[in-house]
Amino acid sequence: MGDAVNKHRLLVWGGSGHAKMLRPTFAAAGLDVVALVERDPALAPLFSSAVRFFGWDDLAPWLAAGNALELSFILAIGGHNGSVRCELADRLTSWGLKPFEAIHERAWVASTATMGEGCHVLPMAAVGEDAKLGRQCIVNTNASVDHECILDEGVHIMPGATLAGCVRVGAHATVGANATVLPHVNIGRGAIVGAGAVVVHDVPAGSVVVGVPARAKH
Ligand SMILES: CC(C)(COP(=O)(O)OP(=O)(O)OC[C@H]1O[C@@H](n2cnc3c(N)ncnc32)[C@H](O)[C@@H]1OP(=O)(O)O)[C@@H](O)C(=O)NCCC(=O)NCCS
Repeated sequence: MGDAVNKHRLLVWGGSGHAKMLRPTFAAAGLDVVALVERDPALAPLFSSAVRFFGWDDLAPWLAAGNALELSFILAIGGHNGSVRCELADRLTSWGLKPFEAIHERAWVASTATMGEGCHVLPMAAVGEDAKLGRQCIVNTNASVDHECILDEGVHIMPGATLAGCVRVGAHATVGANATVLPHVNIGRGAIVGAGAVVVHDVPAGSVVVGVPARAKH
């Protein structure tokens, strides 16, 4: 059998910057991108071998035609879209697709850390000892999630952000680029920490905080 037959097949949902950053992990895992779902037909296709789809209505008939078999998926959607990633993951797994966990070869994940399905850990990012990440979390480029942090599902730690030890982050919350969260602080579900903030107190669910020290944004 040739290589093409042996390769695992991958569906990538999202065709912009975050997908570009994840691309090396697909090659390293021997994955062949066979399908790409994106929003903008004007975007230059990222994967020449992939069939392109524009949303569920476009994709569903292709899956139903037997293409869901032995197909993995990755949700290459960054930003404040943790709940979207989790909803899409539910939908795609109900078709029998398997979530791919993308850990870049230049990232470091402690052997005692645990991760739910479909997480992304990008170049130079670190996930410390006994950290626990729920499914569909992103630890972006050069971000650090230190020892014993707990991230619920769909959290995004953006590039360069630092979570000190024992920080807890609720589902779908985001911590902006280069923000710092001090030890033992709790970030509530769906909260947004602005880029560059220094978080010294707990952040209520659904709130947006910015600045040094971080305060509610009005
Ligand atoms: C906090 C944040 C979510 C606010 O977004 P927004 O509501 O669209 O905010 P706006 O851009 O409309 O700015 C509104 C005000 O907040 C201020 N502001 C925005 N972000 C800020 C930040 N991170 N720190 C301090 N002030 C900030 C703006 O200067 C503006 O102030 P002004 O009204 O006095 O001019 C966003 O700015 C942010 O920091 N997001 C994180 C982005 C990131 O890290 N991306 C990485 C991608 S992987």
